[in-house]
Amino acid sequence: MLLELAAQRRVLFIGGKGGVGKTTVAAATALQQAGTGRRVLLVSTDPAHNLGHLWNRPIGASIVRLAAGLDGLELDPELTVRSHLNEVGAALRRLMPPHLAGEVDKHMALSRDAPGMHEAALLERIADTVTQGLDRYDLLVFDTAPSGHTSRLMALPEMMTAWTEGLLQRQERSKRFGDVLRNLGKDDAGLGESILGREASDGDDRQQRVRQLLYRRRERFSQLRDVIQDRQRCAFIIVLAAERLPVLETIELQAQLQRSGIDVAGLVVNKRSPSNAGAFLAERRAGEQRHLDSLQQALPNLPIQQLPLLAEDVVGEAALRAFGARLSQS
Ligand SMILES: Nc1ncnc2c1ncn2[C@@H]1O[C@H](COP(=O)(O)OP(=O)(O)OP(=O)(O)O)[C@@H](O)[C@H]1O
Ligand SMILES: [Mg+2]
Repeated sequence: MLLELAAQRRVLFIGGKGGVGKTTVAAATALQQAGTGRRVLLVSTDPAHNLGHLWNRPIGASIVRLAAGLDGLELDPELTVRSHLNEVGAALRRLMPPHLAGEVDKHMALSRDAPGMHEAALLERIADTVTQGLDRYDLLVFDTAPSGHTSRLMALPEMMTAWTEGLLQRQERSKRFGDVLRNLGKDDAGLGESILGREASDGDDRQQRVRQLLYRRRERFSQLRDVIQDRQRCAFIIVLAAERLPVLETIELQAQLQRSGIDVAGLVVNKRSPSNAGAFLAERRAGEQRHLDSLQQALPNLPIQQLPLLAEDVVGEAALRAFGARLSQS
């Protein structure tokens, strides 16, 4: 199921609870797809970044080659926040009257730790990675951070688009107000001119640039939103273990994503216990089956792919290839 989906889409998001196998599934899928001749970019949006651990090599904020046809990238939230704030700070300083530069700096310093800042900055990087990545790659595979983080992130494009829209509308109103004052000036012997003064044209220019910035931002977020809500191009996969809490979280995550306009395309149930390796594991397997039954009852229309619990951790390219081969069997 997963590989067929991957073959048909341009963007995959792999999400789920901590430790269930998101990074492993994302990397194995990306590697398998690269093996079919597609150009693939594997991207981690997880601040903990275990992509590097999995490949046994450092992967950072710039693209590295992982295998033939496969590149890797770890979006660094800290670095992203810093460069995002520098960019926004520079833009604000240009746009605000010079005597407020100190205020801008203070505001930016406070913003560094503001709630949501990491997510907003990360989202901008994801938006850029999707836009640029779609030009250069056939498939982008996003390995995301554990559930809560990802569902908030996925709700953001919608929110940021609405927020930017609101700012633009306010800008529009104040522009109209300025136009009225200026027209007054024409008719009434410079009345409007004297109210607005020379600052007016400076302010006008600034407003124009603010508006351009906001339009660009809105464009970036709405492009991302269009991609992640497009079932033809993008699929969201939830990885889970057949245990009580991961099952409950999967049902919750699916509902949260749906509220953000994102359909989950499939589920990967990883680390299934074997039935033929002793009474203890057989008993575990029977328990897992009960959890799977309740999952299927809650989400009856979602395709499910199962993967066995392996004796060893999955590390390095060869192990990932073997894991990818299991994906095509199950
Ligand atoms: N089917 C499996 N059998 C045995 N071990 C597995 C299996 N799938 C993944 N693992 C191992 O489980 C551990 C967690 O996997 P992984 O890092 O892919 O999970 P994750 O969901 O990305 O975790 P995190 O939420 O911390 O990012 C790793 O050591 C990995 O090698
Ligand atoms: Mg991971």
